[in-house]
Amino acid sequence: MHTDIKHHYSISARRMSRSIIRELLKLTNKPGLISFAGGLPNPETFPHEELKEICDGIFENEPQVTLQYSATEGLSSFRDLLVEFVAEHGLRVSREELIVTTASQQSLDLMGKIFIDRGDTVVVENPSYLGAVSAFRSYGVRFLPIDMDEQGLKTDLLHRQLRELKKDAGSGIEYYQNMPKFIYTIPDFQNPSGVTMSLQRRKELLHIAEEFDLIIVEDVPYKWLRYSGEDLPLIGALEARSRAVSTGLAGTGFAPPTRRVINLFTFSKILSPGIRLGWICADSVVIDKIVQAKQATDLCTSALSQKIAEEFLRRGLLEKRIEANINLYRRKLQCMREALEEFMPRIHGLGWVVPRGGIFFWITLPEQMDADEMFKEAIERNVAYVVGSAFYPTGGGHNTMRLNFSYSSNEEIREGIKRLAGLVRSRQRGVA
Ligand SMILES: Cc1ncc(COP(=O)(O)O)c(C=O)c1O
Repeated sequence: MHTDIKHHYSISARRMSRSIIRELLKLTNKPGLISFAGGLPNPETFPHEELKEICDGIFENEPQVTLQYSATEGLSSFRDLLVEFVAEHGLRVSREELIVTTASQQSLDLMGKIFIDRGDTVVVENPSYLGAVSAFRSYGVRFLPIDMDEQGLKTDLLHRQLRELKKDAGSGIEYYQNMPKFIYTIPDFQNPSGVTMSLQRRKELLHIAEEFDLIIVEDVPYKWLRYSGEDLPLIGALEARSRAVSTGLAGTGFAPPTRRVINLFTFSKILSPGIRLGWICADSVVIDKIVQAKQATDLCTSALSQKIAEEFLRRGLLEKRIEANINLYRRKLQCMREALEEFMPRIHGLGWVVPRGGIFFWITLPEQMDADEMFKEAIERNVAYVVGSAFYPTGGGHNTMRLNFSYSSNEEIREGIKRLAGLVRSRQRGVA
């Protein structure tokens, strides 16, 4: 008897689908096409000479450690360096509050694994990172998307929604099952919108989490890529500060000094995505649970990758690399900004916010234009973007698109924006 293999799949496997971005990227292999679709770092930023030298040294001196399984938490020497690295950026954690992961996508999946049961709610920014949405969705989550403005997630809206939910949430364990399992946020140069959450909103979000006794998952892959404006503290660092000045937290289930912010970090945008390395900072109790979940996933993160990154950090090369990345990407951002200003038609409803960091511009088209529907013609005109609607977990955003500026050359950026502007102009005539 021949059965359809699909009938054998788990519910969560049936819920999975290929990432729309990966599918769109397949179309972008077309010769001559300028792609603003991916979120790829520029290969020019990969420090292959330094890494080659580091690798030679590692294989010469430490092959036993490097080629062996390692602790699920990560190599102790590497974790100690990461503890120092985050301390320089205001986040004070101990080694027990840090675990190395196979980059942030695994960290996001681990968040789903340890927190989400089918039917649970998670708060996300609207729009939000597609990879996180897919990871959480595979665990059967329901999204509570909260709109953003130029200051980030609208905390007043979130507060109102949580107050409503709390009315029927019950008490004790029932409360935690009925309220959102966590708030997922990307406060720095958000993917996809490029928006940076203001200091005020960061504080408000933390207060809200305390008031309703919720966890915040703070994902900051772009934090180190700031091109203008002053550095803003991690919400995790604000929590540590607020704990120092207050005598207690408002929540019922958590007693100080439990950390309610979980920080996700990655080397992908500052060193290389191919090295597949990230780390999580959280309360040691949460780290312990993550260790258990990770053991079932991949046993441990590559010791080879960890050793390479460790040596890179130890030699002080990461800070220099970040500085060089900033210089390159700042120029690319400027190039895309100038091209948008020069080529895009001045029409009501068409706009963008210039990001202060990160790797994306977020374009809003007039309400009546549909970026999904325009995509095919964009490919015909040899330019690609990601449709903004892909980032709205419960629908919407058809008049938005995400443009990456880190990968293409400056010439390609100018030419690509020119092509895109031509397409927008042709649609403008169509709807006029
Ligand atoms: C917000 C956000 N989180 C997580 C990731 C995953 O990155 P990685 O798994 O390479 O660390 C990305 C990648 O673009 C991202 O934009």
